[in-house]
Amino acid sequence: MVPPAVATPETATAIGTPDAPAIKDPVKDTILTPRFYTTDFEAMAAMDLSPNEAELEAICEEFRKDYNRHHFVRNEEFEGAAEKLDPDTRRVFVEFLEQSCTSEFSGFLLYKELSRRIKQKNPLLAECFAHMARDEARHAGFLNKSMSDFGLQLDLGFLTANKAYTYFKPEYIFYATYLSEKIGYWRYIAIFRHLEKNPDSKIFPIFNFFENWCQDENRHGDFFDALMKAQPKSVTGLRARLWCRFFLLAVFATMYVRDVARKEFYEALGLDARDYDKYVIAKTNETSARVFPVVLNVEHPKFYERLERLVRNNDQLSAADQSEAIAPVKLLRKLPFWVANAAEMAKLFLMNPIRSEHYQPAVR
Ligand SMILES: [Fe+2]
Ligand SMILES: [Fe+2]
Repeated sequence: MVPPAVATPETATAIGTPDAPAIKDPVKDTILTPRFYTTDFEAMAAMDLSPNEAELEAICEEFRKDYNRHHFVRNEEFEGAAEKLDPDTRRVFVEFLEQSCTSEFSGFLLYKELSRRIKQKNPLLAECFAHMARDEARHAGFLNKSMSDFGLQLDLGFLTANKAYTYFKPEYIFYATYLSEKIGYWRYIAIFRHLEKNPDSKIFPIFNFFENWCQDENRHGDFFDALMKAQPKSVTGLRARLWCRFFLLAVFATMYVRDVARKEFYEALGLDARDYDKYVIAKTNETSARVFPVVLNVEHPKFYERLERLVRNNDQLSAADQSEAIAPVKLLRKLPFWVANAAEMAKLFLMNPIRSEHYQPAVR
């Protein structure tokens, strides 16, 4: 992890440069910004892994090999790369770095805390979490180092102490983190493959690191897949089917609305935000069928029609936020769009899902 830079009398005049990055104020928390999580550590420690212990042990062995130990080393390509970006691209790229760094760091905090709190009672699980915390710390640190190329840095210590933590019981942690790892894999690999074919759109050398990087996320996702299989109740029965649908929808809808809202970043890479998200959603949905009992019917024509309504409502919400009106007026303007969003989400949730055994029986 990169410690936040401290201004000394010598560096104070140069704040906001790569040598003395300014501490960036964290973006305001909204439903679209990455969250920090906490859980029931006692329940995690007491978890019986015996139904799938061999697979978890094999995954831990993979983690021990630490394939990317020497991967995250900056090279001369980074020198001067930040100066080549025009102001607009620079703004959207820094936003991307910040969001990615925050979500990698959120993973680090959760995994680190889990490994620390369950060490005595559940050593295998604790070791897996410690290895994943190691990877996420590397990812967050590498992104934060790139931010310092732009004269900015996230104060991770401040974030740790001041960001609100969302409590999820262990099952919900499994669904949410499994999905964020797998979606992270598909997001990074899709960008990497696109830039491999279109090297002129590679706006910053960090993208060269995405191929090995996303293999970390893939392994983390496989770990949660194995963990859910060790807790069969988390992926069988009506309750599990409802919660899996809910988490798939929440993750896909949030990503779609957020990415379309910052489509300029994808344009800078020569990608269309909507097409990119549709690809990532289709792939993550397909992958999830290996462990979730149901997945969403993302091919249904109504699916993206409804997501587009969320995008439009979100535009109206942002417009109301940015207006000069006093707070109660803003609230009144926003209310109908919140109601419309809730109704759209309910309709999306009620769309018939696909039973995973019908989806891809070969891989289950
Ligand atoms: Fe990561
Ligand atoms: Fe990860």
